[in-house]
This record gives sequence, structure tokens and C-alpha cells, in this order.
Amino acid sequence: MASFSLFLVILAIIAHAVYTLFSLVNNIRKARAIGLPYTLSPIHELERWAYVADPILRWYCRGYLLQGNGWPRWARFMIKDWHYEDKGRAHREYGPLFIVVSPSGMVCYVADSHAALHIGTKRRLFVKPPDKMSNYKMLEPFGPNIGSTEGDLWKIHSRIASPSFDEYTQKLVWTETQRHASTLMSMWSSNRGFEFEKGVYTLTMDVMGCVSFGQQADQNNDEKTRLPEGHSLSLLGALRGVIMHLPHILLVPKALLRYTWKGVYTAYVELDQYMDELLFQGMKDLSNGLDGARSKENLLKAMLRSSKENEEKGPRAVGAKVSLTNEEIKGNLFIFLLAGYDTTANTIIYACVILALYPDTQSKVLDEVGEFYKGEDAGDSPNKSSSEYLAMFPYLLAFMHEILRVFPVIIPIARQTISGQELTTRSEISGSESFTLPGGMDVIINNTAIHFSESYWPSPDILDPRRWLVRDSQAFDPSKPPTEEQEADIQKCVFSTQSNAKGTFMSFGEGPRACLGRNFAKVEFVAFFSRLLQNHRLEAGGDVNPRETERNLRLLSGGSPVTLIPPHSVDIRLVPRGS
Ligand code: HEM
Repeated sequence: MASFSLFLVILAIIAHAVYTLFSLVNNIRKARAIGLPYTLSPIHELERWAYVADPILRWYCRGYLLQGNGWPRWARFMIKDWHYEDKGRAHREYGPLFIVVSPSGMVCYVADSHAALHIGTKRRLFVKPPDKMSNYKMLEPFGPNIGSTEGDLWKIHSRIASPSFDEYTQKLVWTETQRHASTLMSMWSSNRGFEFEKGVYTLTMDVMGCVSFGQQADQNNDEKTRLPEGHSLSLLGALRGVIMHLPHILLVPKALLRYTWKGVYTAYVELDQYMDELLFQGMKDLSNGLDGARSKENLLKAMLRSSKENEEKGPRAVGAKVSLTNEEIKGNLFIFLLAGYDTTANTIIYACVILALYPDTQSKVLDEVGEFYKGEDAGDSPNKSSSEYLAMFPYLLAFMHEILRVFPVIIPIARQTISGQELTTRSEISGSESFTLPGGMDVIINNTAIHFSESYWPSPDILDPRRWLVRDSQAFDPSKPPTEEQEADIQKCVFSTQSNAKGTFMSFGEGPRACLGRNFAKVEFVAFFSRLLQNHRLEAGGDVNPRETERNLRLLSGGSPVTLIPPHSVDIRLVPRGS
């Protein structure tokens, strides 16, 4: 009996090996038919096995990565988001488009701006990968949303959600961020051991909470006396409970969560209940005409209004969906939190460290902030719009974009072809070449490779905000003295993304599914630094070795599966300007 069982096990192993080999050969045949360069890997980063391989290989290869040569070739394609540490090496080896073939499938990597733009703009032909989508389905604990839907359903989410990110919302972001930054500033400047990373996460979370639901964090300090009836947590307490335990919320079935992580379950249930109550009140206000000035709205109310207005306009086609259900509005509010809080926090964290390590860049930012406080309407004035404020910080905006070029906090932009799709690459050397990808093929825009390509960003390793102030960033090489025209542009100091050819900066994505909250993030970034650095500057702690710190930040990611995070905390201090 035992020998028969052994025989069955051996048979199963042989059958699996034959099947794996057969699949690999079949995939190689398909890759050859496409005509792009290809390479083999036992597993690729979009497979489930990559979740196992990733932490092991990251740990094993840490020493190798610190030598500054990217991943060892044998390991790189098995690691999730290997692109960040690779910095375009694979593309320099295989070309702007190449395929990784594994027994389970093929992934086409794209580091050509023209092809990247095409993929980004054709949302119906290049959809989010269904595998990823099933992950994204996990991102629906409160309901379907703009990040988890496709096709016509996505369109209606977009039509209703996009108008909510208007000037009123941005102004609220400005006001709230400045308010929270003041609190953070006093804690940070008076406490040497202050973990600024935690402070920044709390700030972006609370700003999101306030902008989404209209409740300020410190309103609920006195939890016991202020808790609304039927609640054991404040709204922001529930919000923080959900955000801090996202893996539990997203991965553990609710029935199990209820008995295993009771505190997390309570946060989840209470947030859901709060959103229901706020939606109920918001709808009542809307139908009674009690909504008052638009400026008093938050994202929840803005979405309700937008949904109602869309409903009143009627369907664009017979039977088409015209409004969002409460579930869908809740789903969107949740995805805004998820997409918006740690992306912005990590951008700010990288920026704080770089400012402390680059005194010249910091001194230009300090000058700009100093100028701002000389004028009238500085800080937060009802007379100024958020875009007027942004226009007063061209250098800070240029710096933010340069941070996001070097540290693109969202690393993979993954899509899948619906049917056979032609992709064209344009290179000065080999001209234009076209390839047809079959339907159902995974495609990843390698934004790090694009951001570190000499053709789009000369001397890409140099972090220099001036790239964003010149008319033609592709002609600006920060390692050389600027031309007269470039110097004049830099002196004029007007921030522009226009000068950068489309598809060469992918940190917010491109096309209809690009980041909905990019202006939100810009306003938050500028409001944060304009307040934090009003009377202070950032300084690296005495034990920080600047060269080694920057090297680590560039060579290693913290390995989060969601966003790019620094590999370790850095001791950055906030000290009075004159000291
Ligand atoms: C520096 C901060 C941010 C960065 C770098 C960033 C980056 C991105 C990127 C690259 C995408 C496209 C992903 C893809 O195409 O697969 C995206 C989508 C999205 N972002 Fe952001 N984001 C940031 C902040 C925010 C904020 C503050 C919000 C909301 C308040 C937000 C809301 C969204 C939403 C809803 C989507 C999905 C859009 C769709 O699928 O149609 N993001 N973001």
C-alpha cells in the first residue's frame, strides 16, 4: 500500500514536471511569435508564488543589492516590483520592450514613453489584469469603486467621483494640511527622538479623514464625552483602526475577523456605520436644500451631490447607470483613503530626508517659503484658491516631481491586453518598430526604467529639481552647465510638466486611469512644507551618514507590496531656521 502511494506521488510529480515543461515550451513559442526579445524565469512577479519568493529573495539579496548593481540576474524577475532596484538595467540589456516567460505565462515590460502613453490612454484595450483585479476585488470591503471596476461601470464611477476633486476639496486639503502641519511642527521641533515618519503617516491619514468626512481629528480627543450614540469609537478612531490593519480587513473573511481580531472588526463595522449615518444625513440635507455653501462640503457630500446631479441629467444611453449606490460611494471613499494616504506620506518622507541631505535644494525651498510669508494672504486665506497657492511654489513643486521621478512611490502600472494589440516603440537609433501582443497578455509599464533612461532624463541619477523648470527637460543635463536659454528659464522659475514629453514621467500614471488624486497630493505636499518650514529647517541627526543614507534609499526599497517605502527610518530633525 505504502509503495503504491509512493508510486502515485512520484507519478504526480512527473506529471506536474511534464506539464510545467510543456507550458514553458508553449509560452516560449508564443513569445518567439511576437518577435520581441525574451528571457526565462521560473516564476514571474505577477504570479502568486512571487508573494513567497519576494520576501525570501529580498532578504537573501540585500547584501548584493547594496553593491549597487541591482538584482542578481537569476533572481530579479521573481521579485515583486523588482524594477525599483533594477533602475532600467534589464531594459538596457534586452531593449525598451521585452518579455519574461515563465511556465505560467508571459509578462511584457515596457520602458518606451510612446508605448507607455499608448497603453495608458487606451483603457478599454489595456485593462487592469484580471488577476490583479481579483486582488482589487479584495479592495472592496465597503463596496465597488473607481479603482476596482472596468469598462462602463468604471466610467460612471469616474464621472461621479472626478468632479468631487474640485477647488473646494483642494482648498479643504490646503487648510487641513496646514493645520495638522502646525501640530506636527511643534511636536517634532521640541522632541529629539521624534519619529517623524509616524507623524507624517498620522497627518496624511487625518487629512484624508477630514477631507473625506468633514471631521477634524482633535474634535474627538475627549472620546468618552463626545462619542455619538451607538458608537464605541470616534469616526477617526474607526478610520485609523481600519487603515492600520488593512491586511486583516482585506484578507481575512469578516466572519472570521469578528472572532479573531475583535478590535479590527469593531473598527471596520463602526466605520461602515459612520459612513451610513453620514450618507443618510448628507442625502437629507441635499433633498431639503440644507446643503448650504458648496465650500462646506467634504468628499462624501460632494460625491452625493455629483451622483444626484448626474441622475438628474438622465442616462446617456438607454438603460445606462446614472448614479452610484451608497455601497459604491462608501467603496470610493475607502479607495481614496487607501490610494491617497500612504502614497502622499511616503512622498513627503522621502522629500524630508532628501531636503536634509541636500542643503542647497533646501535653501531654495526655504527662500520660496520665506517669500510666501512676506506677502498678504499667506498661510491660509479665504481669498486665495489652492491653485493660486501652488503657483507661488514653483520650486517646491519641481522638487516634488523630482522626488517622484527618483522615488516613484507606486511602482507597477500593470495592464492586460483584451485582444491582439499593436505596440510601437520610437527610438532615435532604431526608428519606429511595431509588435503585436496577443490577447490576455500581462503588460507592465516600468516607470523606474523610464525615469532612469538617459534618452528622457539626461544624467538620470542626479536628483535636480531644475529639470522641471526648463522648457525642454530632455535637453537639460544637470551634470553640465545650463545653456543661456535654460539658465533664463531656471531664473524665471515657472514649474511645468508641459515641457516634459508625455509618457516620460509615469509616477501618477497616464491617460484616463491616471491618478485621480494628483492635485490633492500636490496641494497636500506644498501646504505641508510651506507650514513646516516657515520658521524651521530640516537637519540630519549627528549619527546619519548622508552618503550612505542616500545610497540605501536609492538601492533598496522597504519591500512593501503596496507602495515604495524607505528601507529604514532616518533620524531627521526639525531645528529653528537660524540655528
Ligand atoms: C504622491 C501621491 C500619489 C501618487 C504617486 C499616486 C499614484 C497613482 C498612480 C500611479 C495611479 C495609477 C495606477 C494605475 O494606472 O494602475 C493612481 C491611481 C489612483 N489614485 Fe493616486 N497617487 C497619489 C495620491 C493619490 C491621492 C491623494 C488620492 C485620493 C485622494 C489618489 C487616488 C487615486 C485613485 C482613486 C486612483 C485610481 C484611478 C482609476 O483607477 O481610475 N491618489 N495613483
